[in-house]
Amino acid sequence: MRIVNKVDQLKDVIRQLKLAGNTVGFVPTMGYLHEGHLSLMRQAKQEQDIVVVSIFVNPLQFGPTEDFAVYPRDLARDSAMAESVGVDIVFAPEIEEMYPNGHSNLLTVVDVSELTEGLCGASRPGHFRGVTTVVNKLFNIVEPDVAYFGQKDAQQVAVIKQMVNDLNINVKVVAVPIVRESDGLALSSRNVFLSKDERQAALILSKSLKLASTLLAEGERNADIIRSAMTKLISDEPLAKIDYIAINDAVTLADVINIEKPVLIALAVKIGKTRLIDNMVWEG
Ligand code: PAJ
Repeated sequence: MRIVNKVDQLKDVIRQLKLAGNTVGFVPTMGYLHEGHLSLMRQAKQEQDIVVVSIFVNPLQFGPTEDFAVYPRDLARDSAMAESVGVDIVFAPEIEEMYPNGHSNLLTVVDVSELTEGLCGASRPGHFRGVTTVVNKLFNIVEPDVAYFGQKDAQQVAVIKQMVNDLNINVKVVAVPIVRESDGLALSSRNVFLSKDERQAALILSKSLKLASTLLAEGERNADIIRSAMTKLISDEPLAKIDYIAINDAVTLADVINIEKPVLIALAVKIGKTRLIDNMVWEG
């Protein structure tokens, strides 16, 4: 496995690999890898000849009061994990390599409207602009045939698919299912911030989704009733503070009142200081 830090060098390496007839799969990450990230890499390796993983904590997608400075980082550990699942190239650029003129006053950004207004977009203004801008840059650098994203960030998948369609980017976007701990907690790099008590309290996210699926299975189709039941369950957990609970059309992300078509049930909850997200798609 090669670790590359420079854009030009990565472009050269990939050009040669493509000339030799290899297909390229790409998994963009912010590092501090876990089984969720590795499942994307494994699927990429199964389906493509070469797998490129980027590890870059993108300052552009963090708000001024968010956890950019303390976001966990460990390139040595990440590289070993990536290598263990057959990744061919890790691209780990410095911030200056990605944003030579600084990231705070970039002249060109990519902005997807509407889809970025609700859910995480509402509580994290500018977040998705940072994501779409860096992912667009990474797509231009790597020029992958297929890019793999986790359904854990369901809104991110929808936004990136929209960007790829609208800008005719030559990449196929594949969504990979959420990987969970055995007790239901969705894997996240941010789980390392949780104390023992908070780790236990964090189960309330997946429990509330289970409650939603039970209600749906019993025939409940009123989104407000389901949201209220989830809100009540989470409010009973003293360490949890709800950011949002959303029940939206699984494709357009529009708000839903009466559930008829597949819906995305997504939530963000603060457990202590750590903001966690989770979701499920109800197919109907
Ligand atoms: P990061 O949070 O590191 O996640 C990288 C990829 O791993 C994303 O596609 C995310 O959805 C996926 N992922 C994270 N946890 C997962 C889990 N439990 N199961 C399945 N997949 C999971 O998402 C980002 O980084 C950034 O926004 C990025 C796209 C790299 C742009 O900076």
